[in-house]
Amino acid sequence: MGKIALIGAAGQIGTPLSLLCKSSDLFDEISLYDIVHVPGIATDLMHIDTRAKVNGYLPDDGGLKKALTGADIVVVTAGIARKPGMTRDGELWTSTNAGIIRDIFVEVAETCPNAISCVVTNPVNSTVPVAAETLRKAGVFEPTRLFGVTTLDVVRASTFTAHALGGNADPKHYKVPVIGGHSGATILPLYSQAEPAVDLSDEELAQVINREIPDGICDIYILTAWAGVQFGGDEIVKSKQGAGSATTCMAYAGFRFVKALVTAQGGLPVSEEAYIYLPGVPGGKEIATQLGVDYFAVKVEIGQNGASKALPLGSLSGAEQKLLGIALSDLKANIATGVSFMGA
Ligand code: LMR
Repeated sequence: MGKIALIGAAGQIGTPLSLLCKSSDLFDEISLYDIVHVPGIATDLMHIDTRAKVNGYLPDDGGLKKALTGADIVVVTAGIARKPGMTRDGELWTSTNAGIIRDIFVEVAETCPNAISCVVTNPVNSTVPVAAETLRKAGVFEPTRLFGVTTLDVVRASTFTAHALGGNADPKHYKVPVIGGHSGATILPLYSQAEPAVDLSDEELAQVINREIPDGICDIYILTAWAGVQFGGDEIVKSKQGAGSATTCMAYAGFRFVKALVTAQGGLPVSEEAYIYLPGVPGGKEIATQLGVDYFAVKVEIGQNGASKALPLGSLSGAEQKLLGIALSDLKANIATGVSFMGA
């Protein structure tokens, strides 16, 4: 039990995430921050019969500082959502959200530098480097406590695998590691390491990489286990027709990651994939040297104080090796965008 601060709580990810946090009974205190509506959302949540005290803070009167004070975990979902036609590395979108992340992390650095911070705001491949550089400039960057949340890719990999296999397959039964980044080709599901082994032909998997997303979502589930995961976000953007991007499934995934952190803080180590600054996490330096990037999503062992170990990639199939090459070249550009936004 402790305090979680949800920054961007009036947004379409932040609000369902706040409901999941309040209904979970995992926290004594939940603080919500946003530029509108959060006092009302907090009052609404306070009618739920769990112990957490919920407060909503607006920017006036040092609201962000108040929300962050004493937080053990900070989850940032603030920012603008993707619209049709925007890629996750679109320039305007990136710089708008990068600016929001920088301003929030200036306050995190000052108010709760020891909290575990989770960045959901897209484009994660670039916003995590912005958060890291902001903390570094303030002299408080601790890489083991900064995570880019890529859990939705892992959730999608389980879901789409079950759908592709058909029948009554339970998505939770399939564990597919997903590494790399959190946009398009940088997302790399490792079907060769699926547990239990997944019986999809090479064609079924390989066909999907650059395929245009078909209109019917059923088609995509059957045809494309890989593209489903890499372009799952695009499928939702397209389907919402201008009304935004993933919200409820992202809140679900964000909460799954938060639950893992709380479990670890309670003394039971867990492991989850997350996008981290590799050189600052035990085991990560070797992976950074192997791949030639500093930021990458890998399976991370998480303990009471955050990331305790970045786990090696394991063996990749020939097709996955090729995809890794593509992922790395896109990812390098995305990381450079975040780092140069901060003038580093
Ligand atoms: C997703 O994966 O669905 C989210 O990151 C939202 C997006 O813009 O793709």
